[in-house]
Amino acid sequence: PAIRLEDYQLPRYRIETVFLDINLDPTETRVCTRMSLARTAGTPDGTPLELDGDDLSLTSVQIDGVPLECSAYEASPEKLTIKAPPAAPFELIVETVINPSANTQLMGLYQSSGTYCTQCEAEGFRRITYFLDRPDILSVYTTRLEALANNCPVLLANGNLAETGRVEGTDRHFAVWHDPHPKPAYLFALVAGDLAKVPDRFTTRSGTSVELNIYVEHGKEGLCGWAMDSLKRSMRWDEETFGLEYDLSVFNIVAVSDFNMGAMENKGLNIFNDKYVLADPETATDQDYANIEAVIAHEYFHNWTGNRITCRDWFQLCLKEGLTVFRDQEFSSDMRSRAVKRIADVRLLKSHQFPEDAGPLAHPVRPRTYHEINNFYTATVYEKGAEVVRMLKTMLGPEAFRAGLDLYFERHDGEATTIEAFLKCFEDSSGRDLGQFSLWYDQAGTPVVAAETEYDPARQSFTLSLTQEIPPVPGQKTTRANVIPLRFGLVDPNGTDLTPGSVDGATVSGDVLLFDQQHQTVTFKNVPVPPVLSLQRAFSAPVRLNQKLSEDELLFLARKDSDPFNRWQAVQTLAMQDLVRLTSAIRAHQPVSPSEGIIDVFRSILSDGSLDAALKAQALTLPGEADIAQEIGKDVDPDAIRSARESLRSLAGKALSGQLLQIIEASPAGAYSPDAEPAGQRALANRALHYFAVSDASGVSALVADRFKTANNMTDRLAALTLLVHSNLPRAAEALAAFHDRHQSNSLAMDKWFMTQATAPLKDAAQVVARLMDHPLYDPSNPNKVRALLQSFASGNPTQFARVDGSGFKLVAESVLAIDKRNPQVASRLLTSFRSWRALEPQRSALAESALLRISSCEELSRDSRDIVDRTLQ
Ligand code: ARG
Ligand code: ZN
Repeated sequence: PAIRLEDYQLPRYRIETVFLDINLDPTETRVCTRMSLARTAGTPDGTPLELDGDDLSLTSVQIDGVPLECSAYEASPEKLTIKAPPAAPFELIVETVINPSANTQLMGLYQSSGTYCTQCEAEGFRRITYFLDRPDILSVYTTRLEALANNCPVLLANGNLAETGRVEGTDRHFAVWHDPHPKPAYLFALVAGDLAKVPDRFTTRSGTSVELNIYVEHGKEGLCGWAMDSLKRSMRWDEETFGLEYDLSVFNIVAVSDFNMGAMENKGLNIFNDKYVLADPETATDQDYANIEAVIAHEYFHNWTGNRITCRDWFQLCLKEGLTVFRDQEFSSDMRSRAVKRIADVRLLKSHQFPEDAGPLAHPVRPRTYHEINNFYTATVYEKGAEVVRMLKTMLGPEAFRAGLDLYFERHDGEATTIEAFLKCFEDSSGRDLGQFSLWYDQAGTPVVAAETEYDPARQSFTLSLTQEIPPVPGQKTTRANVIPLRFGLVDPNGTDLTPGSVDGATVSGDVLLFDQQHQTVTFKNVPVPPVLSLQRAFSAPVRLNQKLSEDELLFLARKDSDPFNRWQAVQTLAMQDLVRLTSAIRAHQPVSPSEGIIDVFRSILSDGSLDAALKAQALTLPGEADIAQEIGKDVDPDAIRSARESLRSLAGKALSGQLLQIIEASPAGAYSPDAEPAGQRALANRALHYFAVSDASGVSALVADRFKTANNMTDRLAALTLLVHSNLPRAAEALAAFHDRHQSNSLAMDKWFMTQATAPLKDAAQVVARLMDHPLYDPSNPNKVRALLQSFASGNPTQFARVDGSGFKLVAESVLAIDKRNPQVASRLLTSFRSWRALEPQRSALAESALLRISSCEELSRDSRDIVDRTLQ
């Protein structure tokens, strides 16, 4: 049955304190939960207490020390109902038995390489004990863990350590943890196992010394330095930027190798997919280092935006996720180059969120209905949610934005709240009405903004006509105009921004114009020369902009715009226009000739001393195949798109080979550092190599093979390997074997080996993937392996996933069915790679549909996969 936002009801009972006594055992863990319960105001006498469960088996239940008669309750694996609870506050004790070693879903309590760990968001706590498993139930937790002292020397839970000891006369020991901050059940966590500890300390702004620990498998201690450094920088940054300090005396991070998502912000005990903790130059790329920095920050920032202030219900997920993604993006911008970070974030938004918003899985940033909440940890909730917060800042300005956030922390600390309450803080602190702005949370679909301009030399006026529209979204009948903050500049022929005399037809403050009607005409007066309009600077709103700029105007902006983001955007637009044109030529069997304009832009970017290397690398990266498909929108032929992109790539490689070679040869030597500067130089050198590899220059494949052999870091080694394999160069097989031999004992490095082969645009890719599923190092129960091999094939290899013989779809569909039995979350995530199937040309979309129907016809599908397949086919 669908869960609906409009059906939200206040809880009938509260749980004030929870005492968990957990006796750990691989197959028979006993959980005794003692809770103090009270009715909430207005709950009528005799209202039954219904506690959530999932796959639980009940051992006993007591109220106020007295065992309950069978007739007084009903228990099933999914629910425990106490028929007539006392009117006065009472103590309920519930005992359950669970089997962590059989928990393949990785929700609730499970084992990863022998270590006990938990994942409770969104509804995993009910797999540990019967509970009111909803985020508006805030309780103070005390957790006692007991386990074999030899097997589990480390015992961790939320909060501060209160007590440890031996269980007399046994080989077991225990630890008691107390978390003074009331929290919802989804933030509960425990870890128990034999782990190494990497300790450090941090002194807060107000002088409290906090113990910091990262727990990892023995032998991996040396791989935690970057994560620890990122944590300390995050803690300092949140104090300096938002005035937010840490609030416990210890902060623990645990890295595990089997994890459904990236990481989890459990209070005082963050649990991480080890991919976002472990790094050294030998096994991690620059991108891995940047991801670790961002994810460590993200989870740490949740301590305030998520934990201290949490969500009333799961429809409000973006309240914590959108805001926390915004915060981690800002952190990375401050640590690195703001423009480069913005470009990377917008690329991600366009490649993941825009297709989601344009397909059958489209939903608002705050959905109004769901069948399975785990399917709403999406790019829309996270990334578009962050864009909405960013727009709020853009509209209000930095001071008013900060004042609104301060009010939010002051007013709602310790609460489970809503988007309305969040927006009200900004209304109250700024005096602005955010009624129309709130549509961003409620309307799905990416708005399309059309912009046309006209210059009147006689009047010296410049007119901008704007139109907005939201394309049709399944189930969304009517839409209203959004308020769209557009950052802009009127660029004069020298590249300088003009300051217009006055503006008619829109509110403009500074360089931000508010476009808030369906159609709007804006006139700028006293504009002495015809300007070029640079619009949506820094990607100020998550909309698709259709601006009719001539090739000359785009070339001009690519060279002269003072906004680095829009310089990059102009290059992308030029390339995209050409790629779309080339794709249709290829489909019509017409001769293909890429335009030279883009080559000139590349040339001038490469020789522009004012641009940093990372930005050059971004500018030289053509729109991805999926981005081009998205732009074309219908009747998509992935092979034609790929040919178009390759023809432009090879034109650039040939035309610029001299310059490219210089850059490759200048790539940084000496000791590796993950900092933004050398990472940017490596990105540029490897981008240059990517083009150079398809030039006519002699010795190309020897050069790539040599870069592979001599690389002193994973970034360069993987870039060269990818080129060798994806271009099927002579040394590809040899390099794959060498990589395998070098990294076979490191699971995370081997993920890259699987991924490189899964994303190779070669006609045997589906067979290679199928064969690799039998490789001894492939493990279908490890989510990272499934993502490296199957997910990256399905979403990172468009020509082979969508092969006209249907073998790509078939492989993925069969894998979804097999994985679904074991881990529904991983299966349903893999299944979302079909989301753009209707945009494919008829033959391929028919093949995709029959693969989806095949999945749909399976009767034992999990709720997760059922939900995705139904919506995808609807
Ligand atoms: N709150 C976590 C994060 O953003 C994600 C956890 C999602 N887990 C899930 N099972 N859906 O950082
Ligand atoms: Zn998060």
